[in-house]
Amino acid sequence: MLFSGTKTLRQIAAVLETGNLLFLRLLLTNPSAARVFPGEMYRSYLGLSGGDAWPCRPIFELLPNAGRVRATIEHIPSNVIGTPLEQLSALALFARATNATRIFEIGTFRGRTALNFALNLPEGGRVFTMDLPPSEDARGDASDRTNSSDATIISESTTGSDYRGSDVESKIEQVYGDSSVFDFSPYYGSMDLVYVDGAHHYDAVVRDSEQAIKMVRPGGYVLWDEFCNFGDYADVTRAVLDVVPRGQVSHVEKTQLGVYRKPL
Ligand SMILES: C[S@@+](CC[C@H](N)C(=O)[O-])C[C@H]1O[C@@H](n2cnc3c(N)ncnc32)[C@H](O)[C@@H]1O
Repeated sequence: MLFSGTKTLRQIAAVLETGNLLFLRLLLTNPSAARVFPGEMYRSYLGLSGGDAWPCRPIFELLPNAGRVRATIEHIPSNVIGTPLEQLSALALFARATNATRIFEIGTFRGRTALNFALNLPEGGRVFTMDLPPSEDARGDASDRTNSSDATIISESTTGSDYRGSDVESKIEQVYGDSSVFDFSPYYGSMDLVYVDGAHHYDAVVRDSEQAIKMVRPGGYVLWDEFCNFGDYADVTRAVLDVVPRGQVSHVEKTQLGVYRKPL
């Protein structure tokens, strides 16, 4: 039911599985917060149980050689999309703990995650971050192909505005293209980390994930946003599970991230 193509069915299943008296109280006092309650509950359950259809693991179990790590994060207020602190910290820690020097991100938006990756790269490190070209035509076509939440995000995107003028801007290279047709081959095998956070419909996530796995070097990591959003972005979860070799994707505890490490 959680993977049903109908969002209402997914939401009913989510409430049946996680609903309790606190959910009812929230529904009465703050209905919009109640919408995210099933996801919060489910992620807590995954953390406590160790997983469900896929394993859920604390970040430092996924990075066993990390040792002591100090990462930097920068919060940027936003009224459109927010990245919870745990998730921003996890992205920064992945960059820092793996000693990444080359990161590719699909989906820049205003550049908050690109900035936070760049803050955790050494001198000479580079973040390539991709978004749709600024032209109305390219954005309109991509909006028509995707779902209404993505279309809203595309219309609100001022690509890169969060990192422009920052002290790490020189580490960030803005790439423009539509990831559904973009030629990623010049980047194959060369990335320490790839972050997939572009369009969220099934076909887009399949192609972006296939390309991400090709871009990452052996031993490198692919991370997906919205992998564990419990129903809201079921297409992302389904697509990742269809593309990643069976049993090799984990959920990063206390985040919505999925992660895959390419074998050495
Ligand atoms: C969720 S936002 C990325 C958020 C960003 N990673 C962050 O957390 O700061 C998704 C972005 O993907 C871009 N996008 C949507 N469809 C795309 C496509 N087909 N090719 C490239 N970018 C796309 C949108 O314009 C939007 O800026």
